[in-house]
Amino acid sequence: MATPASTATLEPRVDSDAFRQVLSRFCSGVTIITGLAEEHGRTVPAGLTCQSFFSLSLDPPLVAFSVARTSRTWPTIEPSGAFCVNVLSAAQQTLCRSFAVSGSDKFAGQDWMPAPATGSPALPGSLAWIDCAVETVHPGGDHWLVVGRVLHLNAADHEADPLLFYRAAFRRPAAA
Ligand SMILES: Cc1cc2nc3c(=O)[nH]c(=O)nc-3n(C[C@H](O)[C@H](O)[C@H](O)COP(=O)(O)O)c2cc1C
Repeated sequence: MATPASTATLEPRVDSDAFRQVLSRFCSGVTIITGLAEEHGRTVPAGLTCQSFFSLSLDPPLVAFSVARTSRTWPTIEPSGAFCVNVLSAAQQTLCRSFAVSGSDKFAGQDWMPAPATGSPALPGSLAWIDCAVETVHPGGDHWLVVGRVLHLNAADHEADPLLFYRAAFRRPAAA
């Protein structure tokens, strides 16, 4: 008779350092997810740096990203039902770092334009803007997987390098 699998064999054997180190070999671009939050009866811009962005579906047009359950910003954006994905250029590394600091006044002195469909902040100098309505939010371990329906999108007409993130460091493409 087969021995039933013990609970121990079903336990994950992946330690978090190994997980981080191995997954850091996946090179990605970097985005800032922005949106509008209600704060003391005022509508204010909000955002956070996010690497875990991907395109999900062409028809219907869907994109997705994951956000930590500990994020202070995402719960302020989610009720608006919308967000804008700002795809960062290499020149936006400082901006990228500042939007990764939880609890800071991220939009102090920061220019932005309302994205056409939702009014979520589009950041000048970005390579692309993807203006979305929140379609669904799924639990994903210690993160949420947020799926957005693309309502409007635009790419910059300049040829700036993308900001890349690889092995826990910012990179830019090597010259060809
Ligand atoms: C390059 C980079 C990529 C990041 N990607 C993500 C991500 O995909 N999801 C996430 O939840 N946090 C990500 N973070 C961390 C958040 O930006 C950071 O936790 C931020 O403090 C969250 O701010 P908040 O608490 O105001 O939401 C990333 C940070 C950096 C520097």
